[in-house]
Amino acid sequence: MRRWLWLAAIVLVAGCATATRLPPVTQVGTAGTTPPVTVTTASTTGVAPQPDERMEERIAMVESQIEMRGITDPAVLRAMRTVPRHRFVPDSDRDRAYGDHPLPIGYGQTISQPYIVAMMSEALGVGPGDRVLEVGTGSGYQAAVLAEMGCEVFTMEVIPELAARAETTLAEFGYDVTVANADGYFGWPEHAPFDGIIVTAAPDHVPQPLIEQLAPGAALVIPIGPVGAVQTMWRFTVADDGTIQGDNLGSVVFVPFVRSDG
Ligand SMILES: C[S@@+](CC[C@H](N)C(=O)[O-])C[C@H]1O[C@@H](n2cnc3c(N)ncnc32)[C@H](O)[C@@H]1O
Repeated sequence: MRRWLWLAAIVLVAGCATATRLPPVTQVGTAGTTPPVTVTTASTTGVAPQPDERMEERIAMVESQIEMRGITDPAVLRAMRTVPRHRFVPDSDRDRAYGDHPLPIGYGQTISQPYIVAMMSEALGVGPGDRVLEVGTGSGYQAAVLAEMGCEVFTMEVIPELAARAETTLAEFGYDVTVANADGYFGWPEHAPFDGIIVTAAPDHVPQPLIEQLAPGAALVIPIGPVGAVQTMWRFTVADDGTIQGDNLGSVVFVPFVRSDG
């Protein structure tokens, strides 16, 4: 039963949408350089009390969609029960926020299916105090889950309106996450190395700068594959001797990874 549910989950869309035409954005550097960047930092408001609203829906979501599919990391499960997902989606979709599917967040983009967020968070293998880079901020929900797990989170979003809105939402709930409006292909060398890097849009190859910004033993969790088709979720880890190991985590469908130069 559990295996069947897991197989069903991996072919569900994680965040299916079409690419949108983008205004120019500031790139956050290339490896070895420190050019000026457009970086905004969420205000530090401490850990604001989390609202209990819709708590029962979160508990049900974790039990029926996430634990049933084999996610066991207590920190991930606790974070998914805590972060108010309905506050990261448009008001008109709040009643659908805890459903077993992605939802539109505007600009042709989506917030990923809850199970996919949990699976990627667990696959990263990070914990309190770890420094994590997310590429593909979207609504800010995945960043909030990682922050709730105790990670120091840096997140990059190529669409300026989404970056700004996510920054506001994260600050509203007291998550001290650093947000940049930038093409995440180059990572964020000023804050590297990272104890984990998570990419929530699908490029057709592994961005080499992200590999270079991993701390020893850290993981890069990333969907790779063609636009508009089924992709493969990979976890890459770099051993002390520099060899890279790739683990196939299953099939997914993600929005395209968009380059700021077109
Ligand atoms: C499936 S959505 C991410 C969902 C998000 N993690 C959340 O919790 O809501 C993918 C996001 O990646 C962004 N994106 C695509 N290519 C990017 C790039 N090169 N750099 C940064 N963000 C990118 C998209 O604009 C979109 O907002």
